[in-house]
Amino acid sequence: MTSGTLNTPYFTKVSGTGSYLPEKILTNADLEKMVDTNDAWISERTGIKERRLAAPEQVTTDLAYIAATRALEAAKLTAQDLDMIIFATATADQPMPSAACVLQRKLGARQVMAFDLAAACSGFIYAASVADQFIRSGMYKHVLVIGAEILNRVVNYKDRETCILFGDGAGAAVFSRAEANEPSRILSTHLRADGNLGDLFVLAAGGSAMPISQAVVDSNAQYVKMKGREIFKNAVRTMSQVCQEALDANGIAMDQVDWLVPHQANLRIIDAVGSHFGIDPSKVIVNVQRTGNTSAATVPIALDEAIRDGRIQRGQNVILTAFGAGLTSGSLIMRY
Ligand code: UT7
Repeated sequence: MTSGTLNTPYFTKVSGTGSYLPEKILTNADLEKMVDTNDAWISERTGIKERRLAAPEQVTTDLAYIAATRALEAAKLTAQDLDMIIFATATADQPMPSAACVLQRKLGARQVMAFDLAAACSGFIYAASVADQFIRSGMYKHVLVIGAEILNRVVNYKDRETCILFGDGAGAAVFSRAEANEPSRILSTHLRADGNLGDLFVLAAGGSAMPISQAVVDSNAQYVKMKGREIFKNAVRTMSQVCQEALDANGIAMDQVDWLVPHQANLRIIDAVGSHFGIDPSKVIVNVQRTGNTSAATVPIALDEAIRDGRIQRGQNVILTAFGAGLTSGSLIMRY
């Protein structure tokens, strides 16, 4: 659904981004020693060569803290300037208090509204859309949006269908009110969910339906499980659809888009979306080979890397898009 239609004098821009990848690298060769897999299969089916793993003593808000600090520095703001913190994650430090509240304390932010947002891999785009609404309404000036995960805590390293895919990391963006004469602005956001397909990708244990018990742990229900092939098809279809919605809503053709920043789940999914639109692959930001799938963190990490290395420049048209468990999906189109 289009959410960029608020008729107000205010617009939202990205004022700064930051990201953080933990130091430890888990290569395909390492995984060969853990499960019945091999580098050729993983490379060919996913494009992934390595992924980062958080150290045992690190929690998700530690990763987020570093990404957030970098984003605030890039925005030339301090934590005291923030009016709201939204933390997109499926792997918060604990169910309560929220990761957003823990991060607020770590950053020394004011006692502003802070909450976690559960939309799995689409979480960053969902959260960015919420930030956009609060800024465009005139209510807030600076909103910190985080996508951060430590998926190694919910992945079964005996399940070759999932453990080869996921990695840990954090990305952050500060969204700020754009000055009236600034060209930088979010043009629109487009979000969807289809709960009918929720069974395709689940983490069943730890909630009210299946509280943690010894029997639950013995059944491995504390780990993610997915039907990869169905998710693959839905990912290509929904990301293509929400990107098309973003183009249509703004009367922009894909060849006027300078950069596509898609969810980094699988290189073949990214390529399929790119070829659906006939985009030159050099205009698609891809880092999945190095990061694996970091769920809510993939889009802000890829965005930050491309801004920092100078590929994405102010004034360019950029589309962010993601899909994830739920099944959720979303796109955000902006003039960066
Ligand atoms: O953020 C959203 C998260 N989820 C995703 O993005 C997942 C999307 N799906 C995918 O990326 C792909 O479906 C996978 C990479 C998970 C799997 O690739 P695929 O081409 O769809 O393979 P498949 O599931 O159809 O499996 C093909 C074969 C099977 O063997 P048989 O039945 O043909 O004998 C699997 O058992 O590959 C086997 N297989 C593996 N072999 C070596 C599955 N995982 C592995 C593995 N190493 N790690």
